[in-house]
Amino acid sequence: MAEVKIGIINVSDRASAGIYEDIPGKEIEKTLREYLKNDWEKIYAVIPDEQDQISAAMIRMADEENCCLVVTSGGTGPAPRDVTPEATEAVCEKMMPGFGELMRQESLKYVPTAILSRQTAGIRGTCLIVNLPGKPKAIRECLDAVFPAIPYCIDLIGGPRLETNENIIKAFRPKGK
Ligand code: MTE
Repeated sequence: MAEVKIGIINVSDRASAGIYEDIPGKEIEKTLREYLKNDWEKIYAVIPDEQDQISAAMIRMADEENCCLVVTSGGTGPAPRDVTPEATEAVCEKMMPGFGELMRQESLKYVPTAILSRQTAGIRGTCLIVNLPGKPKAIRECLDAVFPAIPYCIDLIGGPRLETNENIIKAFRPKGK
C-alpha cells in the first residue's frame, strides 16, 4: 500500500449527477502523477455543491484516510451554490490565505474573471486542503503556481516527505531541510 494518500474532490452538482464527466478530477490526478516521484494512492470523491457533504468528505479524507493533501475543484465562485471555501474553513484549524492570493494573481494572467474565485487553503491536522476553480484549464495554471511550496508545508504539519520530478516542478525547501 502506498504510504502517501492524496484526496481529490470534484465539487459539482452536474458531475455528481452524472450529467458532466469528471474532467477536473482527472486533470488533478494527471497533474499530481506528473509532479510527484512518490508512489501515492488517490482517494476520490465527486460531490454536489452542498457544504455539509463537502466538509464530510474533507473530514473523512483527512482524519480516516490520513491524506496529507486534499485538492478540490469547483464551487469557489460567487453563485449561490458555490460553497467550497465555506466547507473548507469549517473543517480547518488554520487557514493558509497565501494559496488563494497566489493562485488568483497567477490566474489573472489568463482571465480577468480570476478575481471571482474565492479559492483558499487550510490545515486540518496533518492534511493541507487546497481549493481550485472548476475550469479544467485552471487546474494546471493554479497548481503550477502553488505546488513548489506544498511539500515543505506538508513537512511542517507532520506529513510524509513529498519528492517532485524536478524537470516538471521543483519543490522549494529551505537549505538543509
Ligand atoms: N482561474 C483560472 N486559472 N482560469 C479560469 O478560467 N475562471 C474564473 C475563476 N478563476 C478561471 C479561474 C471564473 S470564471 C470563476 S466564476 C471562478 O474562478 C470560480 O470558479 P468555480 O466556481 O468553478 O470554482
